[in-house]
Order: sequence, then structure tokens, then C-alpha cells
Amino acid sequence: MVYFCRMQTDSIDVKNILGLQLPTDPRWVNLAGMQLDEILTDHAYCEQKAATTCISLIQRYPDRVEMVEELAPIVTEEWGHFRMVLAELKKRNLSLGKQRKDEYVNNLLEFQKKDGSVEDRFLDRLLTMALIEARSCERFKRLSENLDDEYMRGFYRKFMESEAGHYTLFITLAEHYLPKDKVRKRWKDWLAFEREMVVKLEVRGDRIH
Ligand SMILES: [Fe+2]
Ligand SMILES: [Fe+2]
Repeated sequence: MVYFCRMQTDSIDVKNILGLQLPTDPRWVNLAGMQLDEILTDHAYCEQKAATTCISLIQRYPDRVEMVEELAPIVTEEWGHFRMVLAELKKRNLSLGKQRKDEYVNNLLEFQKKDGSVEDRFLDRLLTMALIEARSCERFKRLSENLDDEYMRGFYRKFMESEAGHYTLFITLAEHYLPKDKVRKRWKDWLAFEREMVVKLEVRGDRIH
């Protein structure tokens, strides 16, 4: 993978590669390391939601042939991720548990254009996914570099690599269907919104986001 360099250049990586405007608060990974069981449950639901959102994009836009072709295998991949996390929970004698309120994703959904054109709404749906993938990738990177447990660092490295690929796929799909300058302009709005939103979210170790 060429997406990431060393830890010292973290904030530069985050800005230049994922586009994110704000690196995760360094306290988060310490808190997460202390509540890994909670993180795994939240993570399991993130993977499930990634799979179901890809399915709903396919159902909503069946005429976008390239998108359908690209997202069909992502559904399988995300569901595979869900199963990997589920297996990890089982190893720890834990069951899935209840789904938590996902403030991060709910805030992003609020920002989606509700009254724009069909194309505007389509673009926002793709960019929402790109952003969730980018932020998840950045969080997994933190876990893959900072957890005490070597096995869990490797576990999260695999997820980090996958989600980096997904982030680029959603941007590429947006640029395939819409003018590049329009995509870039709206992506900037999303990045600015996400920055402001993440600053206001409580830093808690029982959530991926
Ligand atoms: Fe995933
Ligand atoms: Fe993903």
C-alpha cells in the first residue's frame, strides 16, 4: 500500500491523502485500547452498515451499470469484514450486542442535500460513503499503529488497507458520473463540514467514530 507513510507525518498524510482536515484526537486510541470489546461491537455494525448502504445504492440506482458492477463485490467484502469482527467477538466469548446510536453518521446524513437535483443527491450519497471510509481508514490506522496487542495491530491493518481502497472507489465513481470540478467543490464542502462536526463530538473509546 502506498497510502500511508510513517506516524510522524500523520497529519500530513491525513490531509494530503485522505483529504481529512482534522486528525483524530490522540486520546481516542488510548481510550479505544482500554475498551476493545466495545470497539469491536461498534465496528461490527459499521461493517454491516457499509454493506447495506452499498446494497441500497444498487437498489436506488440500478441503471448506473459501472457503479452496480463496482459495488456488488464491495458488498461481499464488507460483509466479510463483518464476519471477521463477529469471529473476533466470539473468540472473546462475546455476542454481537445491540447497535449503538451512530452520531457521526447521523450528522453526515443531516448534511446530505435533501432538495437538490437527482444528480446532487447521488453525489452526496457517494461522498458520504467516501468520507465514512476515509475516517474509518484513519481510525483503523491509529489502532494498527498504537494498540499494545500485536495481533490486534495486524487485525486493524487489514481493515485500514481495505477501507483506503473503498474511499478512492467512491470518489472515482463520483468523478465517473459527474464533472470533476463539481465533485471536488462538493467534496471540499463535505471535508469542511466533517472537520467542524468531529471537533464537537465527544472523544469516546467505545465508538469507531
Ligand atoms: Fe469494511
Ligand atoms: Fe469499506
